[in-house]
Amino acid sequence: MSTTLIKGGTVITATETMDADVLIDGEKVVALAARGSQKWKGDKEIDAKDKYVLPGGIDVHTHMELPFGGTFASDNFETGTRAAAFGGTTTIIDFAVQAKGGSAMEGYEAWRAKADGNVAIDYGLHMITGDINEQTLKEMDALMGEGVTSFKLFMAYPGVFYSTDGEILRAMQKAAEIGATICMHAENGIAIDVYVEQALKRGETDPIHHALVRKSLLEGEAAHRAIVLAELTGARLYIVHMSAKEALEEVKAARDRGLPIFAETCPQYLYFGLEEMGNGFEGAKYVCSPPMRDRAAGHQEALWKGLATNDLQVVSTDHCPFCFDEHPELGIQKKLGLGDFSKIPNGMPGVEPRFEVTYQGAVNQRGFSVNRFVEIVATTPAKLFGLFPKKGTIAPGTDADIVIFDPKKKHTISVKNQHMRVDYSAYEGLEVTGKVETVLSRGRVIVDGSDYLGKPGDGVFLKRGVSGYGG
Ligand code: URP
Ligand code: ZN
Ligand code: ZN
Repeated sequence: MSTTLIKGGTVITATETMDADVLIDGEKVVALAARGSQKWKGDKEIDAKDKYVLPGGIDVHTHMELPFGGTFASDNFETGTRAAAFGGTTTIIDFAVQAKGGSAMEGYEAWRAKADGNVAIDYGLHMITGDINEQTLKEMDALMGEGVTSFKLFMAYPGVFYSTDGEILRAMQKAAEIGATICMHAENGIAIDVYVEQALKRGETDPIHHALVRKSLLEGEAAHRAIVLAELTGARLYIVHMSAKEALEEVKAARDRGLPIFAETCPQYLYFGLEEMGNGFEGAKYVCSPPMRDRAAGHQEALWKGLATNDLQVVSTDHCPFCFDEHPELGIQKKLGLGDFSKIPNGMPGVEPRFEVTYQGAVNQRGFSVNRFVEIVATTPAKLFGLFPKKGTIAPGTDADIVIFDPKKKHTISVKNQHMRVDYSAYEGLEVTGKVETVLSRGRVIVDGSDYLGKPGDGVFLKRGVSGYGG
């Protein structure tokens, strides 16, 4: 086992800010001490003077290689997790898929086969249970045994991943019984599909109409219904990729009633609005579900406020990239929807910029403490999804997943310097202050400035425990 000493930096966790040296032995943090107070030597030493030493980011919502709309998300586990590492994320939780008529266990095994041996960083899996039946409910037990302790259901996408209220109720009853978490895509897909059909009939085919038909009230309604079903069954509910203030109001009210209801938002909803979607077909770059919302209606500011007050607990990405122009291997992706917005594959790239753009918006622009930033991008995700304290903080005994972050360095987010396998950056030209400089994954430096020092297969599958929140 070799030792690594990170010296001279400021260690920031969700609860502490310490001028401290960090000693790593092999894969684990073994000790912290006041800066310079110990005569420690490391086989390898990293100078973190004037830098922050932060827990590696945890992105609990990614879709590498997701089949969607006749194509596949353009990042595979190798390219997507390497890009994540460059962006300061050292753990992802991706979504394995049970197809309609298929077995959940087979979906899990297929996702393990795609990821194992290819991932640059550690990863866990949630399960998209796209077909709730007796067999699936039994398989939920087996999946819990594999460390897949959360299951995603969809109130959107009828005919694809959609579950009826009855199916949701049954899955929630089972989740409550076994201690699993239900992740919910809360949009009323049945009503949305009526608006889609009507818009297309009127000749409204541009990407902006994707946002206009997916009304924020229908996100709020679905969130309400999901919360009622969770309350009836006693299930722990985590509402994913929240973009509407109406949905946030439902979560707030439920939490005020003491229910174990949690929610995440994503950087795209914190940065973008209808303006980005209205630029002709360029708007396809921002097509994802739920959609960007009208800034003037106050959705974005409500989400930031929710993060400030802990009504919202997590920033994840919903990373699901599709190329704008035809790709030599992947073929046509976003442009499948030229002339019909409903055929644009839903999803955006985000796993790489999440850490830095969230820091920019939260700490630099809105005065969040760095501790709160760490909490929403690493610590709470780890706690909610059964990875804490192995992941999500820096303390003796934790995995040495660490980001050395220069809080003063200015740089510009661009497709030219990103590592995600996609031909655009949604944040093109955004100047941010604060840069991920060095990334350690279980004690090994895998990113050093612009150099990648890791290899596919460095990461391992994480058998997760049950959530640390909500009984
Ligand atoms: O548009 C999105 N969100 N694509 C990924 C699939 C999902 O709903 O999370
Ligand atoms: Zn979703
Ligand atoms: Zn998603």
